[in-house]
Amino acid sequence: THQWRGIIEEYRDRLPVSDTTPVVTLREGGTPLVPAQVLSERTGCEVHLKVEGANPTGSFKDRGMTMAISKAKEEGAQAVICASTGNTSASAAAYAVRAGMVSAVLVPQGKIALGKMGQALVHGAKILQVDGNFDDCLTLARGLSDNYPVALVNSVNPVRIEGQKTAAFEIVDMLGDAPDIHVLPVGNAGNITAYWKGYKEYAADGIATHTPRMWGFQASGSAPIVRGEVVKDPSTIATAIRIGNPASWDYALAARDESGGAIDEVTDREILRAYRLLASQEGVFVEPASAASVAGLLKAAEQGKVDPGQRIVCTVTGNGLKDPDWAVAGAPQPVTVPVDAATAAERLGLV
Ligand code: F0G
Repeated sequence: THQWRGIIEEYRDRLPVSDTTPVVTLREGGTPLVPAQVLSERTGCEVHLKVEGANPTGSFKDRGMTMAISKAKEEGAQAVICASTGNTSASAAAYAVRAGMVSAVLVPQGKIALGKMGQALVHGAKILQVDGNFDDCLTLARGLSDNYPVALVNSVNPVRIEGQKTAAFEIVDMLGDAPDIHVLPVGNAGNITAYWKGYKEYAADGIATHTPRMWGFQASGSAPIVRGEVVKDPSTIATAIRIGNPASWDYALAARDESGGAIDEVTDREILRAYRLLASQEGVFVEPASAASVAGLLKAAEQGKVDPGQRIVCTVTGNGLKDPDWAVAGAPQPVTVPVDAATAAERLGLV
């Protein structure tokens, strides 16, 4: 009867909670760290995938949301609001239900995956589709939380970062030390900020002997940090990271520079290639944005930037079921057969 208790109970002494904080949890975290055999072969390294799609609402957002909703509840909030490309809203909606709170979500019209919209709907969120992009949604959400009785649970809320840093703790706890390189997709840049904070804390306390180099990857059509300027009309098939003005931009630069890392871009084509490779060769089905980390690692390896023998962790941030259109698109239609073994065997190529 030793069930994982969720990140607040598992890492209580490293999080800003007290004995009186009401813990709102779906037992998030404790996600699999899966050895990636094909990626290891291709890079000559020891590559692991941190499979965050295994969280209760199917993305890493749950780590931050258990903190944000617990703290909002502690402070007496009755309603929460967020801007989202889909996963934050799904998570906020679910945790608000657990807390007995109302959730409001602002999403860019027509640019969030169906599975994520379904999650917000089924959890009873009040949804507004904004005639604008994610950056516009975040501006609106900040304004509303400044002027109305509703708590902001985007990653600009520092307790979100506190919760998300626990993924770095889990990796070190599992591997016995920090990896040499940590690779992840970058959108609003909260997660790279959070991992870097987690790795630094463990190194400062001697639990890890070093910190990894942080490698972040943006989608080419939405790569403001790579370009060094705001992207006014961001585009990418990876809708989760379709963001032109990341809120944690400066923290992402700090993570890159302090760690001796890099922030680069990958094209949609490279993202989809990595997405298919993960599913068809590693058995791990992720959403397109999540594949940006692996696409980035493969790109760096092809450019000769990955020395063999290193230990590398790629975070794959969200579950493939959230956005299955890309799995179905371009795949051959399944063949229909009668209830007849001979025909089925023939069609399966067994004879
Ligand atoms: N991967 C997925 C699946 C995401 O949903 C996000 C962000 C990221 C990567 C990027 O993480 O923003 O911390 O750099 N999704 C946010 C949302 C923006 O609203 O769900 P980041």
